[in-house]
Formats: sequence, structure tokens, C-alpha cells
Amino acid sequence: MHLTREEERILNGEEGEAKELALRIIVKVGEALGAERLVDIKHAHVSGVSYGTIGDHGLHFLEELASKGARVAVPASVNPVGFDLDDPQLLEHVGVRLSGEFVSKQVRIVRALKSMGVRATLTCTPYYVDEVFDDVDLKPGDHVAWGESSAILYANTVLGLRTNREGGPLALMAAIAGKTYYWGLHLDENRVPVVGYRVPLENLDEAKAGVLGELIATRHNESHPPYVAARAMGELGIREFLAALGAAGSIAMVVLEGVTPEYKVLGESVEEWRVVSEEEINDRLEELAPTQLPEVVFIGCPHAAAEDLERLAELLSRMKGKPKSKIVVTLSRRVFEKTDKSVISKLREAGVLIVRDTCLIVSPFGRSDKVSVATNSYKAYFYLSKRGLPVGLAPLEELVYLAYGG
Ligand code: F3S
Repeated sequence: MHLTREEERILNGEEGEAKELALRIIVKVGEALGAERLVDIKHAHVSGVSYGTIGDHGLHFLEELASKGARVAVPASVNPVGFDLDDPQLLEHVGVRLSGEFVSKQVRIVRALKSMGVRATLTCTPYYVDEVFDDVDLKPGDHVAWGESSAILYANTVLGLRTNREGGPLALMAAIAGKTYYWGLHLDENRVPVVGYRVPLENLDEAKAGVLGELIATRHNESHPPYVAARAMGELGIREFLAALGAAGSIAMVVLEGVTPEYKVLGESVEEWRVVSEEEINDRLEELAPTQLPEVVFIGCPHAAAEDLERLAELLSRMKGKPKSKIVVTLSRRVFEKTDKSVISKLREAGVLIVRDTCLIVSPFGRSDKVSVATNSYKAYFYLSKRGLPVGLAPLEELVYLAYGG
């Protein structure tokens, strides 16, 4: 790999042991993949930081790195953790009982990350850049190193940023080094679609969009990103579509017609068109539909946006009485702070449990009790059903109706 003088200096330990280690790892991975050089990044997003996911091994790795004086060289955000930091036992309402050890070790993980300069955003939606950062200006074409599959897809597809599908530790190494290997989706030629999918549906709600994500993830075996011509998905639909693609497969970018900044130019290279029919989407959604009154209705995977909260509050205002299911919404604390307080009050009055910093998947939800769930997120369906829970998928309107016993 060609290295600049600055990179050689770092590898010689002239900028400290931690930066040397971080760059050494990035170079090793890059060389294994065949990268010819490194590229500067403007931002990193670190995933895999729940104590439930990384355990003692991950905790000790992070604390050791922090003790070596590691500091991020670029702005860096971080994924959700195992509980709401202000109220660790908040998910007790849905059967999650955390031990004191879990809580204290999770707090140590966050402390180690903060000591390295990582911002405790604790959200999987770093792509709401304005809502998460005041001082980060990312533009199409910028190179970043992101973990979290749903965010990576959003970065490449919607924001036109360039990132590979990084593992959590590698994104942290890139943040410390300020660089990543110049390979994969950082290169123009690998962002060009060859196969396109037409979706002849006028309107895709978020549940159908998630199913579409699954169908494309399981059919698209090409290394180049798929081109997808699907109309009227809406912002929530796009988020759920991309999160589903990331959960059900290994795709890291889609060229989405009318959305991806360079879609017009990239679309010209499509050589083969395939169709995903309305019938296929409806049939699969029918298979996944809830079959019982769920104990929990889960909204906010990926983390909810302010508009999702407003829509939920509006839907709940039409209902009479109290819901029979526990409605849980997960979101970032930044979005929580920026949301109109009257919306938050309306949701709480309707009995909605609003939880920040975490989600039902990265928390130990459903590990000890077989709780039934309905959600509008294919990704949540995917991971919670793997946990052995009965999970149904339906759009938000239906979930609200269902929660009231409809
Ligand atoms: Fe985010 Fe948790 Fe879903 S981290 S994408 S809400 S699984």
C-alpha cells in the first residue's frame, strides 16, 4: 500500500501508541482487501457498543485503548447502548430487568468512548446530521467510516457519502486514525449499478418498503449496488427499506431513483431490469402480519424522527380509551430534545413509553420472557424473531388500531 509521509510518521509512533495501533489495523485490513492507499475521512460512526453485544471483552478493549490516550481525529458518533442512560430500568415496563453489573459495565463503555472524544449520541440515525451535530457539515462525495448497516445504507444511498460497511471496532480505529482504506464504495467504479429493480406500486408504506428491502436483499447477488425504481416511499419508507436491506443481506448501497444524489448518471449504466411485483410484496407482508393482540407495539427501529412522533400522536388522538398493548418508541436524545414538548406530552398521556439511547434489539428485551411484539420495522421483526419472539409486521396506522384491540 502506498503511504504518505504523514501516515508513515504515525506508523512510527510519532503521534502516540493509540494512533499507531489504529492506523496499523486500518492498513492491515486495507492490504488484505487490496487497497492501494488510504483516504481521509470527515466523520466516523461507531456501532456495537451495547454491553449485551460486546461483553467484558469489548469493555476491556475500549478501556485499554482509552488508557493508551486514544483520541478521535474526526467527529465521531456512536450507536445505541443497552438502556436509557437517564433511567436504566425504564424498559422494566416491558419485562427487561437489568443487573447492577450490566448497568455499571455499560456506563464504563460509554465513559471510555467519551474519554476518546466520541460524542455520546447513542443513536443509529447519525444521518440526521443537523439533529445530531451542530458542527458537522457532510456533503455528497465526502468519505466517512460508518458502522451500523442501516446508517451505512442511508449514508451511501440518500446522503451520497462514501462508506463501506465497517464493523464497529474498525470504524473506531478509522475515527482515531482519521483515515480509512480507499476501497469498495469509496471508489466511483464500485458505486455503479448494473442490475435495476422496478417496483410498479404507486404507494409503499413503511411495512411494504421493509418487505421490498428483504426481497431485494435476498435476490441481489451482484457486487455492484442495485438500482431501485420505486415511487412514493416517503422518508419513513426509505429508512425502513434501507434498514431491511441491511438486516436481510450484505448490501451497503442502493441507487434509489429520485433520491440518490447521482441517480440520473448512475442509472444509465443499468444493463438488466428485474421486477418486484405488488403481489409478491403483499403476499410476503401477509405472511409477516401480526396474528394476535401484541403485548408490545415497537416503533423506532431505526430510531424515530420527530415527524414519526407527530404522526403517532395524531393517530393516537383519534383513539378512545387506553391501549391494550404497551407502545414503546425508541429515539435519540437529540431528537427527543428537539421534538415539540406538546407532542411528547400527548404520547405520554396516551401511555406511550418513550425511551432514549437504546432500542429493543440492543437491550436484553425478550431474553427471559417470550413477549409478543408488533412493529412497523422489518429490521426489528428480523432480529426479534431470531430471538424466538412472536413478531408481526404492519404499518403504523394498523399498529395503533391493533394496540387498542382492533
Ligand atoms: Fe437502530 Fe436498534 Fe434498529 S440500533 S436500526 S433501532 S436495531
